[in-house]
Amino acid sequence: MTIKEIFDSMAYGPAPESATEALGWIARHKGQFGHWIDGAFTKPGETFPTSNPATGKPLAQVTQGTGADVAKAVAAARRAQPKWAALPAHKRAQYLYALARLTQKHSRLLAVLETLDNGKPIRESRDIDIPLVARHFSYHAGLAQLLPSEHPDLAPLGVCGAIIPWNFPLLMLSWKVAPALAAGNTIVLKPAEYTPLTALLFAEISREAGLPKGVLNIVTGDGTTGAALVDAPVDKIAFTGSTSVGKRIRQATAGTGKALTLELGGKSPYIVFDDADLDSAIEGLVDAIWFNQGQVCCAGSRLLVQEGIAPRFYEKLKRRMDGLRLGDPLDKAIDVGAIVDPIQLATITQLIKDNPEGDHYTAQTFVPHGCFYPPTLITGLGTASTLMQEEIFGPVLVAMTFRTPEEAVALANNTRYGLASSVWTENINLALDIAPKLKAGVVWINATNLFDAAAGFGGVRESGFGREGGWEGLMAYLKPAAKPALLKPNRPTPAPAQPVVDTLDRTAKMYIGGKQARPDSGYSQPLYSPKGKLLGHTGIGNRKDIRNAVEAAHAAKGWAKTTAYNRAQVLYFIAENLSARATEFATRLQDLTGKPGRQEVETCIQRLFTYAAWADKYDGHAKSVPIRGIALAMNEPCGVIGALCPDEAPLLGLISLMAPAIAMGNTCILVPGQHPLAATDFYQVLDTSDVPAGVVNIVTGPAPDLARSLAGHMDVDAVWNFSSHPLSALIEAESTTNLKRTWVNNGRARDWMGPEGEGRAFLSQATEIKTVWVPYGE
Ligand code: NAI
Repeated sequence: MTIKEIFDSMAYGPAPESATEALGWIARHKGQFGHWIDGAFTKPGETFPTSNPATGKPLAQVTQGTGADVAKAVAAARRAQPKWAALPAHKRAQYLYALARLTQKHSRLLAVLETLDNGKPIRESRDIDIPLVARHFSYHAGLAQLLPSEHPDLAPLGVCGAIIPWNFPLLMLSWKVAPALAAGNTIVLKPAEYTPLTALLFAEISREAGLPKGVLNIVTGDGTTGAALVDAPVDKIAFTGSTSVGKRIRQATAGTGKALTLELGGKSPYIVFDDADLDSAIEGLVDAIWFNQGQVCCAGSRLLVQEGIAPRFYEKLKRRMDGLRLGDPLDKAIDVGAIVDPIQLATITQLIKDNPEGDHYTAQTFVPHGCFYPPTLITGLGTASTLMQEEIFGPVLVAMTFRTPEEAVALANNTRYGLASSVWTENINLALDIAPKLKAGVVWINATNLFDAAAGFGGVRESGFGREGGWEGLMAYLKPAAKPALLKPNRPTPAPAQPVVDTLDRTAKMYIGGKQARPDSGYSQPLYSPKGKLLGHTGIGNRKDIRNAVEAAHAAKGWAKTTAYNRAQVLYFIAENLSARATEFATRLQDLTGKPGRQEVETCIQRLFTYAAWADKYDGHAKSVPIRGIALAMNEPCGVIGALCPDEAPLLGLISLMAPAIAMGNTCILVPGQHPLAATDFYQVLDTSDVPAGVVNIVTGPAPDLARSLAGHMDVDAVWNFSSHPLSALIEAESTTNLKRTWVNNGRARDWMGPEGEGRAFLSQATEIKTVWVPYGE
């Protein structure tokens, strides 16, 4: 080709990155790897190949981890943990900083190895994945340094198990390892079977940092190895991967007391309004859906474009798609690399073949033979079509149009997922109006796929729970330092042989949608004082009552849009009205429990004040991310919270759960503890305190039945359990239906009268953090 021809065509020449060093590292290990346990490689066991998807050639043999391997790694982590946790925070910060520096030092080797094993373009592994890994360790060195002074009452969980996918192998490792280690935990990590190599290289590099033995352990293998890690005696599982496996892990860990964070799939909307900068929105789409061949959990895979500009936008998009270059991932001028594995390629191909809906456009560009899939656009799909709803996890964009902002929001939220979303408009008012309405953990305004260690990342709904990054991410690796006592079962006074009966029938109804409601069952149960006096009856609620209460709670969701000031006023008003009837409530509590009730009522009033105060003070943050712009961490309500109230503090327990929930804008369904008459009296106070109908609902009845109904309900967003019945396992297992968040006591007591009965722990459970990225500039 002559120079003139090159200038005429502007075609890229090949610019391959050398694989020599990376292949040399594999060769030094004779192409075979064991696990990394207790600071050294084990002898390879039964192995399986990991291949380069761009060529189909095996790169190395890695060991299929057995249950015994996992046990050995967990034991090593357990041995190392107390010493690691006891190090001065500054020392841990130094180790993390060293890991950051060594990642930078070996960045080219790590990037090339990542590209060889995964098939992603070297441009991405070199310029995005690996720099973000270094940034993650560096940021967490800072968190480790500041942790004791910022959170002196918190302690590490112990040993963490981490299971990660193949799409960002080393980056996902850093998202798990950095916070775990910063918080004083040790870790056992299982990389994905397609992409284990960079984790093994990183483990070897950690030796250069002098990381103590057993602090970081890597066990390779497939899903069975992952399942063995879930079942092993670890204190936490941090998982990133598919929603189906996430649900299995939720089931497997239910009731074990293991902490759990799940970062799962997505079908994230990419909304383009007619006033958007269309060229930027097109370039954004390239990053949204063709970055990493679309194998990105938060890929902008669902394009929603305003009707008026749709034809022009699709045309521009197709032209841009035609310009994408597929090829050798090690070529620096490649846009789209190889699909991670022939199995994933087959999955994508089959999904598209099985659903021949819509109009398909395939990029008119060279597609190499092998594990490659052409960039594809599918338009003209219906909202319910499989391709609109299911995660394709490949370079396939589905698109539909909308007319109004309301319709855009409705379509965007029409998914079981809730990971990320992008909004493109030059109208900042519109963008900032839409962002809070989107059901997603992350919103990018005029941007996409921005990540940083300082900004929380994670989903809602079936995209999982928990955040990674920022202080909020670190919290998922910590627990209160004080060890709580076991909670004693607390059961109602049995019916005496000779009850003292008042002639007046007092049957307290339930409280649903601001009205008193009879139980659907038509049955009620008597309640006696410790001295055998019949105090009254309460309804025996069932699944239908819960269903009605959930409906009422949903109808009241406008509560989330009221101002925090307004919610504070309502809470103060409840306190004021309770205060006016303090003596009556104190007497009632004494009747119910046989103990003086004055102090409990006083604490209730204080608690209401506490959350009235918090209502407008549980602020979000503006995160210092390394772009020209900000990432806002906004505390949003979870939605509908179902709460099983403690038995040991009849009124205070109920108020301690209700107040933070409603202060943050949630609506709630409360199941009172074993003295429900205190709760049913309390709704008279709610009735006179301007609490809108449906914001607080009270359903009485057997805690185990009601817990099951609440936890299994698809329209409940979170369930809290402080009952003295052993319900934690049941709630966590039932919550799998829609992966609602759970907060359970695991049979441990809490001092409701003291400081642990209120505060930030409750507020963080009552909120979801949404990270809204707002880049600056034209
Ligand atoms: P996967 O969820 O099966 O694998 C993720 C990790 O979990 C891997 O390390 C795997 O070995 C492990 N694993 C598998 N079964 C397990 C079990 N029963 N217990 C514990 N660990 C287990 O994802 P896979 O099969 O690689 O991909 C399937 C689909 O999942 C993709 O097509 C995509 O739709 C989705 N996916 C989503 C990801 C995300 O980041 N949201 C990442 C990877 C896949």
